[in-house]
Amino acid sequence: MKSFKASELSVAQVHNYLQHAVAPRPIALVSTIDRDGKVNLSPFSFFNLFSANPPVVIFSPSRRVRDNTTKHTLDNLYEVRECVVNMVDYAMVTKVNQTSAEYAKGINEFNEAGLTPVPSVVVRPPRVAESPVQLECRVKHIMPLGTGPGAGNLVIAEVEQLHFNEKLFDDDGKVVQQNFDLVARMGADWYCRTTDLFELKKPI
Ligand SMILES: Cc1cc2nc3c(=O)[nH]c(=O)nc-3n(C[C@H](O)[C@H](O)[C@H](O)COP(=O)(O)O)c2cc1C
Repeated sequence: MKSFKASELSVAQVHNYLQHAVAPRPIALVSTIDRDGKVNLSPFSFFNLFSANPPVVIFSPSRRVRDNTTKHTLDNLYEVRECVVNMVDYAMVTKVNQTSAEYAKGINEFNEAGLTPVPSVVVRPPRVAESPVQLECRVKHIMPLGTGPGAGNLVIAEVEQLHFNEKLFDDDGKVVQQNFDLVARMGADWYCRTTDLFELKKPI
């Protein structure tokens, strides 16, 4: 084994090693608005489901390693504590990647990436029409995990409204895992597609 003290690695090395190792990570395509109602859309793979009662998802917009500034998504969430977490399938992943480019604040990434906004039901940021699952959320807590470059900001958000595309269900109304075709992020520029599924029965 190669062993490393985290404190003796550079931020870039820690990021790189852990992103390869803690993978695959699901991708949240998060829409937010600022206090003037300007829309932002960005992907986050530091993301997961953490509770079903109440339903809670978490994600983390990090401070930029380059200049230690904060991301527009985080700034918006401090102004308007609402978001939509849109899940990402293979058909939309190229457009999702485009939304991650460093656009100036106030630029609407829906337009830049060619994705379609749909009004939400209980929050103000729009949903992404192309996404198979759209989760309207209210932000409960934002916890900075540090103050230096690369530090995460844990966003804890409660899901208030769930939208599932009809194609995800069978005729009996059961969700079918194979129909989701979700993608996930791995190390560097690697992604994976959920086309190699297997079932494992729970132990009794
Ligand atoms: C698939 C994917 C996953 C990403 N995951 C994260 C993440 O978890 N945290 C983060 O800070 N940036 C992540 N990024 C980079 C951000 O999306 C990127 O910095 C974006 O420009 C932030 O936009 P904003 O400043 O408008 O919020 C990811 C990019 C891609 C393509």
